[in-house]
Amino acid sequence: MARIQLSPEQHFDCAADDTILRAGLRAGFGMPYECNTGCCGTCKVELLSGTVEAAWAAAPGLGERDRAKNRVLACQSHPTSDCAIKVRLRPENVPAIRPARFRARLGSVRELTHDMREFRFVASQSPGFLPGQYALFYLPGIATPRTYSMSNVFDPARGEWHFVVRRVPGGVGTNALFDRVPLGSEITLDGPYGLAYLRTDSPRDIVLIGGGSGLAPMLSIARAAAREPRLDGRRIDLFYGARTMRDLCGERELCELPGYGERLHFHPVLSEAGEEGWQGACGFVHDIARDFIGERWAEHEYYFAGPPPMAEAVQRMLMDKRVPYPQVHFDSFY
Ligand SMILES: Cc1cc2nc3c(=O)[nH]c(=O)nc-3n(C[C@H](O)[C@H](O)[C@H](O)COP(=O)(O)OP(=O)(O)OC[C@H]3O[C@@H](n4cnc5c(N)ncnc54)[C@H](O)[C@@H]3O)c2cc1C
Ligand code: FES
Repeated sequence: MARIQLSPEQHFDCAADDTILRAGLRAGFGMPYECNTGCCGTCKVELLSGTVEAAWAAAPGLGERDRAKNRVLACQSHPTSDCAIKVRLRPENVPAIRPARFRARLGSVRELTHDMREFRFVASQSPGFLPGQYALFYLPGIATPRTYSMSNVFDPARGEWHFVVRRVPGGVGTNALFDRVPLGSEITLDGPYGLAYLRTDSPRDIVLIGGGSGLAPMLSIARAAAREPRLDGRRIDLFYGARTMRDLCGERELCELPGYGERLHFHPVLSEAGEEGWQGACGFVHDIARDFIGERWAEHEYYFAGPPPMAEAVQRMLMDKRVPYPQVHFDSFY
């Protein structure tokens, strides 16, 4: 166990197989982060003393200039001695639920599209999660974890963690999950993580934008918001971008929710135009959301998730429209 010193008064312990970021969050510190996978660079800290080993040495979140300044990615750093780090803690990052590692059993699997599946895990001992958060998966034969967002609402009596995962051609993690985790077997999950969770104290209507497997956290948020008494009367619009009709899903899950078609609306959008039999919207999902929002930019709470180009396009659109930053919550699926 290594001691990580943040200041003369603040420190936490980090196990050899844990990372500085995750151990800090487990100890209740507001460590900066987003992706937890080495891609975004938000978790950079300066290593003042001590040594660390990077889980993914070539992680794209760290550049040459960072290395020259002795910066490391906290999400990839396993301490190999006691360390002192310089980090600007963020009060808003103090975890509402402290993340933990726990064993979970694969209870069921359902095909959603030709390449997306819903995986339902059950855990008797887990910390639970907020709608919109994600977990890390330790998959057989893969040293570094992969990241997936929960699609359900946590119920402590059932202990279920549901996920919607798209099989990536040639993808190491998704192929392990689809092919090498049999029904009934157990894997280790670690969570919950992520800051793009449902804000139940917001007085605004809700716009959700998901692309591809970005549907998972949007479903979780829609499921929670539809039943949350504090959000009663709030309108919920979920925009979902897929390539073609065979990539579409989500409507079946949403139409089971109270208020569907009244205050909860689903807007599927196909990016490949001209498909026979398709009467709905075509184009980029953020453009369709823009047309819907019209001039009412400040009147919504925005949540979005999906591939980085989609997440960047939505972010740019909201910045152009001067939507206040605290109303914007998102995850890029690196
Ligand atoms: C916050 C977040 C939430 C996500 N939620 C979902 C979801 O709900 N559903 C879904 O289908 N996908 C989700 N993803 C994407 C998912 O985590 C994977 O990137 C995707 O499944 C491809 O993984 P792969 O291993 O199959 O592909 P690969 O191409 O083998 O790996 C892709 C990803 O794995 C990581 N990686 C690659 N090499 C290494 C390495 N050597 N060491 C460590 N990490 C490495 C990187 O993050 C990379 O982007 C999410 C991603 C993030 C960041
Ligand atoms: S949180 Fe570490 S690189 Fe994104």
